[in-house]
Amino acid sequence: MARTVQTSNDDSASRTPRVPVKSSALHYFLQRIENDITNFRDIVARVGEIVAFSELRKLVAAVSAECRDSKENMLAVHHWFDERLNPILHESELCKYCYDKPRGYSGDFGAIELIWKGHTAPYAKRYVGTTIRGQLINAYSLGTENCRANIDRIIRFRKILCGFSGQSIASIGCGSAIELCEAYRVGGKPGVDVHLFDQDESALDAAQSQLVFFPLHVHCYGGNVIRNLISRKQQRFDLIYSSGVFNYLELASARKIAEVLWNQLNAGGSLIICNAHPDNPTRVWMECVSHWYLIYKTEDQMSSLARGLVDSEYVKLEKDAYGVYQYLVIRKQKEN
Ligand SMILES: C[S@@+](CC[C@H](N)C(=O)[O-])C[C@H]1O[C@@H](n2cnc3c(N)ncnc32)[C@H](O)[C@@H]1O
Repeated sequence: MARTVQTSNDDSASRTPRVPVKSSALHYFLQRIENDITNFRDIVARVGEIVAFSELRKLVAAVSAECRDSKENMLAVHHWFDERLNPILHESELCKYCYDKPRGYSGDFGAIELIWKGHTAPYAKRYVGTTIRGQLINAYSLGTENCRANIDRIIRFRKILCGFSGQSIASIGCGSAIELCEAYRVGGKPGVDVHLFDQDESALDAAQSQLVFFPLHVHCYGGNVIRNLISRKQQRFDLIYSSGVFNYLELASARKIAEVLWNQLNAGGSLIICNAHPDNPTRVWMECVSHWYLIYKTEDQMSSLARGLVDSEYVKLEKDAYGVYQYLVIRKQKEN
C-alpha cells in the first residue's frame, strides 16, 4: 500500500527550488506580506488584531489566487517563504512545530493539541512564540481556516459520539482522541468498547492517559492501521471513523482501506471518512509555512470510496463551512 509519509524537515527536505517571482502582482503581494509580518507587532498595536489579521488574510488569499493555476508561481512563492518569511513566521510555536515535525510526519497529535488548546485555552495557548511578533503570528495562524476546520472536526465527532447508542467504536488514526474525551466529558454511553488505531505509540499513550477517567473499555493498536485491521478480520464495530489518515493516502489505497473498514462494520453501523477538500483556502499557507502537504480529493473521488460497498443504504458527503474538510458518511443496512 502506498502511503505518503512526510518526513521531518531536515536540510534537504526544507530546500525548495530557487524559482524567481516573475509576476509583478505576486511580487507586490509577497512584499506586502513581508512588510506586514516584519512589523506585525507595531501594526497590531496600531490598528488592533481584527484589522491587522484581516489585512494579512487578504494578502495571503491574493497570493493563493496567483498560485491556483500556476505551478511556477507556487514554486516561486514557496521559495520566497523559505528564504524570507519563514525565519519570522517560525517565531510562532504552531508554525514552527508544524514545520519541524518532531514526530517525523505532518499533522501529528501534538499539532492537533496545539490547535485545540489554542482555541479552548486562549490565555495560556493562543499567544505562544519566541517573540511578541511570533506570539501574534501564532494567534493569526490559529484563526486560519485550516485550524478552525480542525476545531470543527473535533466538535462534529463529539456530537456524533454523544449520540452513539451502539456497543463498539473504532477510531482510525485516533491521535490523542480529543473528540472522545470531549464527548465523555459532557456525557456518552457508558461501557462502550473503544478501539484506537494509530501508527504512533505516543498518540495512543496520550489518548489512553486521558480516557482513563471515563467509563469506557479502551483497546489500543499500534503500527500500521491496515496490517492491524486485516489481522483482526473477525472484529466488528458499530461506528468506524477516520480523520487524519485518508489525507495521506492516494486514491487507490484510500479505496482499499475504505473497503476493509466497511467489511468490519456491523449491520446498521456507520463509517465516516474525513478528507481534505481541494478548495482548502489555507493550502498555500500550510504548504509554504509548514511544508504540510495533504492528498486532496475531489467530491467525485470521495464519493467513489463508497461505490460498490455491499449493503450500503445511506451515503452522504458533507463539506465543512471552511472549505477545508469533507465528510463521507456511509451507513450499512440493518439485518432483517
Ligand atoms: C491529524 S491526527 C488526527 C487525530 C484525530 N483523529 C483528529 O481528528 O483530530 C492523524 C493521526 O493519524 C495517524 N495515522 C496517519 N496515517 C496512519 C496509518 N497509515 N496508520 C495508522 N495511523 C495513522 C497519525 O499517527 C496521527 O496520530
